[in-house]
Amino acid sequence: MISTEELSLEKEVVDFINWLSKFGENKNGGVTRLLYTKEWIEAQNALKDLIEGKGFDAYFDEVGNLFARLNGSTYTNETILTGSHIDTVVDGGKYDGQLGIVGGIIAMEYLRDKYGQPLRNIEVVSMAEEEGSRFPFAFWGSKNIIGSVEKETMKGLKDSNGLEFVEEMHKAGFDFKDENYKGRDDIKAFIELHVEQGGVLEIEQKSIGIAEHIVGQKRFTIEINGQSNHAGTTPMGYRKDALHGTSKMIHGIMDKAIEYGDPLVATVGSIEVEPNTVNVVPGKVIFTLDMRHICKKTLGKFADEVETIIKDIASIMDLETKIEKWMDCDPTAMNKELVNIMKTKFDEKGLNYKLMHSGAGHDSQIFAKVLPTVLLFVPSHKGISHSHEEYTEPKDLVEGIKALIQALYCLAYK
Ligand code: HGY
Ligand code: MN
Ligand code: MN
Repeated sequence: MISTEELSLEKEVVDFINWLSKFGENKNGGVTRLLYTKEWIEAQNALKDLIEGKGFDAYFDEVGNLFARLNGSTYTNETILTGSHIDTVVDGGKYDGQLGIVGGIIAMEYLRDKYGQPLRNIEVVSMAEEEGSRFPFAFWGSKNIIGSVEKETMKGLKDSNGLEFVEEMHKAGFDFKDENYKGRDDIKAFIELHVEQGGVLEIEQKSIGIAEHIVGQKRFTIEINGQSNHAGTTPMGYRKDALHGTSKMIHGIMDKAIEYGDPLVATVGSIEVEPNTVNVVPGKVIFTLDMRHICKKTLGKFADEVETIIKDIASIMDLETKIEKWMDCDPTAMNKELVNIMKTKFDEKGLNYKLMHSGAGHDSQIFAKVLPTVLLFVPSHKGISHSHEEYTEPKDLVEGIKALIQALYCLAYK
């Protein structure tokens, strides 16, 4: 029997998620909210007003990470941080990122109203960017919090409309952190509540996932140059067809990924053809490649073999290649002690959880490099994510928030 308290929590979290989804909502119910866009600015500012309306302090850091804060009474130089990213992929779902922010605010409010002031500070962060969906750079929010961003890396970055990263950041009212900033030293733990974005929890009928590892990930932008030419007067043997070459490369890459088998995954998510005209042999193709594996060595070996596939086909077809790697994250283990604390707590509370790895990247993998971090999942219906069809049952959202409440209570009130 569901308690009235849980029923009201279900309504609260669903209403909150739907309210936040309005900022960048698409006609099909998905959300497109890319870093420093109008929708992004509106969402962060509306969230700040809502947080202050709940009686919490709220503040932006230099780059646009938004923090909600509940001061601690005793260990005032120690902060337990939770939260996730406010940006989305194009036509993304309502839960990826948003759940961690919404769940964190609901959990912090529940704890304050029920137990009063914690011993340590609690903060909920709405991180500026994680996806790498607008600019070829991911984890901009979390990397800035831990102080691992090189200003030089960002200069010259452009989105698909040719808009410069630095200009867009300044237009949104934000700027780089001070060059001497080396990260916050008060954050004692980071906990992220996130949708699984896969189907394991739903298939195994588990309410909560505790991630022990996050996969390693490499992302590339690959440019293939041939020769634009007339579709009618250029015999097949005389062509330098960039798209024909690219299609062979992608075919080879996908066959190689299938040959490697699970948990290796490889995705060509975007492709641009120039001049993209019906009666012109394509002279240029730019495509992206995302590859992931739980083992660093295997991922590296796969990446090397992919490069050979691209180069061999290019040389046979007299094409030029430019392979730019702009993300290279090693597989990351979550904090064993925190995972065990979660397990003990969830066992005590009879929560139905599963230990697992994460096939998706998360801000947790950035924090885990420098401080104790744990990542909690709730089921994704049919395992769908990065799609407007992304969905999680309200009862599962509530289970996730209850687990987060347990975790925050353990770390901030004891
Ligand atoms: O792509 C990912 O793994 C994450 O959703 N950013
Ligand atoms: Mn995410
Ligand atoms: Mn995502």
